[in-house]
Amino acid sequence: MADRLITRRRTLHLGLAALAGMSAISSHHLAKSEPLSDFTVSSNTPLKERAAAIGLIYGAAIRHDHLAKDAQLASSVIQECGILVPEWGLKWSTPDKPLRPSPDSFDFRAADQSLEFAVANGLLFRGHTLVWHESLPDWFSKIVNRQNAREFLAQHIQTVVGRYAGKVHSWDVVNEAIEPADGRSDGLRSSPWLELLGSDYIDLAFRMAHQAEEKALLVYNDYGLDYDTDEAEAKRAAVLQLLRHLKSLGTPIHALGIQAHLSGSETRFNPQKLQEFLRNIASLGLKIIISELDVTDKNLTIQVHLRDQIIAKVYEDYLSAVLMEPAVIAVITWGLSDRYTWLSEFQPRSDSASVRPLPIDSLFQRKLAWNAIARAFDRASIRPLT
Ligand code: XIL
Repeated sequence: MADRLITRRRTLHLGLAALAGMSAISSHHLAKSEPLSDFTVSSNTPLKERAAAIGLIYGAAIRHDHLAKDAQLASSVIQECGILVPEWGLKWSTPDKPLRPSPDSFDFRAADQSLEFAVANGLLFRGHTLVWHESLPDWFSKIVNRQNAREFLAQHIQTVVGRYAGKVHSWDVVNEAIEPADGRSDGLRSSPWLELLGSDYIDLAFRMAHQAEEKALLVYNDYGLDYDTDEAEAKRAAVLQLLRHLKSLGTPIHALGIQAHLSGSETRFNPQKLQEFLRNIASLGLKIIISELDVTDKNLTIQVHLRDQIIAKVYEDYLSAVLMEPAVIAVITWGLSDRYTWLSEFQPRSDSASVRPLPIDSLFQRKLAWNAIARAFDRASIRPLT
């Protein structure tokens, strides 16, 4: 293990010549003369145990097909994770086994497979996601209309949430419903569900989920909330406005999921602004889940050691900031090993090198990003019992 940790001495050995080859983010770090961290950790204790020691849950989103075919992935997940999210199985539509192959059928094989893995290995299980404009099947727009939309939503939520009732830690009831750029005063995205059911659809979906499942935390999940940019500021304001509105209606909502798809080349990170947002969320009585964390290395140097350092620094800075907020109860990475990450497809590098956005590398060795997460967990204070 020790030889995989970059020590301070080794960092010095990297030398300025190597540093000169670094891209945008790295020159920023140099300009601000920030010391490069050594990312050493005191033990090999897995992330789930380090998290549990502070009353936090750590886990990952993994595809059921990858888990089934790759024993090394499965054993890494069992070792590191306290919670599992099926990356595909609970969306209406996914490439291999869609949950909703047709208007009147459900295919639970992928989701069941993930749940069985979680139960067999003592992991919690998280539901993702019931209402999302991105994952609607092809038949949806032909079949669902203003007259039957409410019935479709109710039937979907009753059937899916009902099937797993009592077995789920938390459900992403509504995903990515805010888009200030769409120009509405309530900040809502112009999505099919909004057009079909009006702005009440979010409250409605939460009430339906609550009817089918009383135990799980019901979550509103969204992205683009992390940085100190005008866009993110507008999104934070609109999400806060939505959550305040839902609370005022008495909607059964329990947590905000912050996706946290971060970028290794984004320099506009302001911990205080993010913490203020988290405080505002917590003051509504809501918990916070960092629900889809990963760090794209798209615009970074090709040099692996340097790239890994930059990515690790982003993990450590981000998690140190968000874990200051006691309402943050879980941290979930969107994937665990670089062998399987949606970013290979969605944020490929222009030099075609393989991407390295996750805590474990493609050969299932822990990376500096793993150390960074471990360090942030080790330093964070214990979450209050609620
Ligand atoms: C992604 C999956 O990782 C891909 O494999 C899939 O094809 C598209 O969706 N926000 C979300 C997740 O809420 O569901 C997305 O997952 C990533 C962005």
